[in-house]
Amino acid sequence: MAKEKVVNGDSARKRPTPKPEPAQKDSAEPHSDPVRPPTRDLRPRNFDEYIGQRAVVNALDIAVQAARGRAEPIDHVLFHGPPGLGKTTLAHIIARELNSELTHTSGPALERPADVVGLLSNLKEGYVLFIDEIHRLSSAVEEYLYSAMEDFRVDFVTGSGAFAKTISLPLDRFTLAGSTTRAGMLSAPLRERFGLVYHLDYYSRTELAQVVVRSAGILGITVDLDAANEIAARARGTPRIANRLLRRVRDYAEVESGGTATLQVARDALELEGVDRVGLDRLDRLYLRTLAHNYNGGPAGIEALAATVNEEQQTLTDVVEPFLLKIGFIVRTPGGRKATQTGMEHAGAPYADDPEKSQQRLL
Ligand code: ADE
Repeated sequence: MAKEKVVNGDSARKRPTPKPEPAQKDSAEPHSDPVRPPTRDLRPRNFDEYIGQRAVVNALDIAVQAARGRAEPIDHVLFHGPPGLGKTTLAHIIARELNSELTHTSGPALERPADVVGLLSNLKEGYVLFIDEIHRLSSAVEEYLYSAMEDFRVDFVTGSGAFAKTISLPLDRFTLAGSTTRAGMLSAPLRERFGLVYHLDYYSRTELAQVVVRSAGILGITVDLDAANEIAARARGTPRIANRLLRRVRDYAEVESGGTATLQVARDALELEGVDRVGLDRLDRLYLRTLAHNYNGGPAGIEALAATVNEEQQTLTDVVEPFLLKIGFIVRTPGGRKATQTGMEHAGAPYADDPEKSQQRLL
């Protein structure tokens, strides 16, 4: 691991000269296909490039600088929050800032204890093991992680019956970075073994506009500021969506208007894409319309809603609902999901707060 000194001086945000890029184990890295030209990676590569999540980034930056100063790995770190907000990106940045390597896997991919023991035993001092969807680890695999995280060793049994033997395998000191959209589904013993736990929240419109401008610069797209703001307004607080919409606006601008993304071009492109002025896509609108019209605004159970819109329950709870809750279009009540007045209005349904009134409407 790089033994760098903590950056002293005027600003905690001041960074040392960028280091050469370490070899990435992550197969998702886009530079390995010799046939296709590499798609330009829009993800920020260090804390300074990272827009938004200020509290999380500042805390992580301190933890990384301190770990670097002590020439130790950073403590195990858990990121939770909706998809597309930068959990994976932050894990990559940690590894890069520590001049280390990241191995990327996911909860469902680690089926057997042997899978995780194999991965752990290949980690060198300071390496980062990133486990996406960590809430989906099986309990058998999870138990191996406890001693690995706490004591940097794994115990496993070889042979059986009279020939059974417990072997304690020492591990190099590594960092486990976990990511989940469902922090509540993590078992307490696993959650408690993370020294750094951060929730990533939706981005403000201003932050998303900055992300769009930065990405446009990397992609070489000319985007008016108004157009960047329009994309940001429709990106559901999520940089991944902002970047996806930017690419669609680029396509549209290239085909329809000579390449420049003006406000009108952005609006036309996003309408064509089915993304409305508050950022709802077709599935969001289908969910909201179903709740508003089929269930008279609710309350409706998630199972019933999932069956009616013909979608996985988990997609609704992890992807659709968090944003509708955040913008106040729905609420969760003990009886089920309910559309609020603004949610009903957006769905074009009449709103009646008084249950008697809504009963009359039904008659
Ligand atoms: N691209 C995607 N997410 C980003 C972020 N948080 N900051 C800068 N660029 C990004």
